[in-house]
Amino acid sequence: MYKELDDILITEEAIRQRTREMGKEISDLYGDEEISVISIINGAIIFTADLLRTITSPVRLDCIRVSSYRNSTTPQVAPHVLDNIKLDVAGRHVLIIDDILDTGKTISKVVDILSELNPASLRSCMLLEKQVTRSVKYHADFVGFTIPDKFVVGYGLDFAGRYRNIPVIGVLKPELQSVGAV
Ligand code: IMP
Ligand code: MG
Repeated sequence: MYKELDDILITEEAIRQRTREMGKEISDLYGDEEISVISIINGAIIFTADLLRTITSPVRLDCIRVSSYRNSTTPQVAPHVLDNIKLDVAGRHVLIIDDILDTGKTISKVVDILSELNPASLRSCMLLEKQVTRSVKYHADFVGFTIPDKFVVGYGLDFAGRYRNIPVIGVLKPELQSVGAV
């Protein structure tokens, strides 16, 4: 159905349903307390857009741009921040949103940066969690789906900036997993 994918792991309907459930879990936890959402972009853009519209608690939104994948399916360099947040989160309830928990290095880096800003609370919400032995131990507060250790794209997840617009989450064909391939 999608020529770039070997296999569809999560359908549009499953994403929609799980996103609604997560929005409810988050709204139930925070109630009327305002949440300062920090979205890790670019990967979490689409998930953040959909999830936020299912949250009934008041929300402020900012983004942090972090990069570690350099046209490869494994991290090439330690994650580094390309663009930091502008919101003042001191004394605020911060919820980090990311697309996928893989090695744990990206989220750990963002948690370190945001902890320094003295938020009232700091939690995280991951659309996906890969079943791997993580080099950095990290436990996310909200997880959408647990997936096998395969390189996936779609619904915001990319390879070299591509395939973010595919509405499902699926395994990228191995022959497309190198920069020279396309
Ligand atoms: P970590 O730092 O290894 O936990 O990886 C987190 C980041 O790596 C995510 O925000 C994604 O941008 C990227 N990433 C990890 N696994 C995948 C994948 O299977 N497909 C696309 N991007 C991935
Ligand atoms: Mg990425």
